[in-house]
Amino acid sequence: MSQTIYLNGEYINRDDAKISIMDRGFLFGDGVYELIPIYNSKPFLINKHLQRLRSSMELVGMRTSSGLTENLEQIMLELISRNQYVNHFFYVHITRGYQSSRNHIYSEDIKHTILIMGEEYKVFSREKLENGFKGCVREDFRWMKSNIKSISLLGNVMLKNYAAQNGFYETLLIRDNKLTEGSASNIFVVKNGQVMTPNLGVELLPGVTRDLLIELFRKNNIVVEETDVTEDDLLTSEEVWCTSSTNYCVPITEIDNKKIGKGNVGDYSYKSYDLISNFISAL
Ligand code: PDD
Repeated sequence: MSQTIYLNGEYINRDDAKISIMDRGFLFGDGVYELIPIYNSKPFLINKHLQRLRSSMELVGMRTSSGLTENLEQIMLELISRNQYVNHFFYVHITRGYQSSRNHIYSEDIKHTILIMGEEYKVFSREKLENGFKGCVREDFRWMKSNIKSISLLGNVMLKNYAAQNGFYETLLIRDNKLTEGSASNIFVVKNGQVMTPNLGVELLPGVTRDLLIELFRKNNIVVEETDVTEDDLLTSEEVWCTSSTNYCVPITEIDNKKIGKGNVGDYSYKSYDLISNFISAL
């Protein structure tokens, strides 16, 4: 089915969209992105996503105008209407833009490339969680600016594919004996009955789903500690789950073929899924 996307000021068919090989996003991975779910034809937590996009742009020295977020929101609403999106997601990709010669040093005045496109999207059903998912642990060898949602995702791609090629759902990352995040998700654990998630910092993405879940837990009087989680804490915990905009809560019941807790999906994992799905249903 033909799809209308937005590219640099134009609404065009996805199959007709072209960018130059001189785009710095193509040559250097010089750009940032967001992935924004659409539920019932409305972009989900759009302000939080656009705030993080602006912050990513600022952190890599890209220009931001005062009306940027309002413009992007307008474009998304237009795409929802043109494509009749219901349960989809937006991929928003902004590169530093076209530069006429390949040079690590960017020109200050080049125009950013802006691409927004949608795709169909299905969240895991509650039933799908019941058997749990398998995870594995690897060293986090990515750069020390993983708080930026950069389009340069080679490290994440390698780590996620390690999981996929070895029969795991997600790779959980350890740096200096501490859990940082998953290759494409944030991680929560329950240890001695306490819900914990790694502190924010340059080692991990400030996930919108992570943030929402912490807020929902706290509203329900469940304490969440944002703290260091060691590899040992992770491997001896009672529950582990991943959060992300694509699959909001995925319980990990085995890590490197060893059971987490009793090897079943635990109460807090279900609670996380339910809190998020009830929040979405109430929108
Ligand atoms: N990624 N950490 C990493 C490295 C991620 O790639 C993601 C999500 C998250 C979770 O962030 P959020 O809850 O805001 O989606 C954490 C998206 C879904 C992606 O790249 O496709």
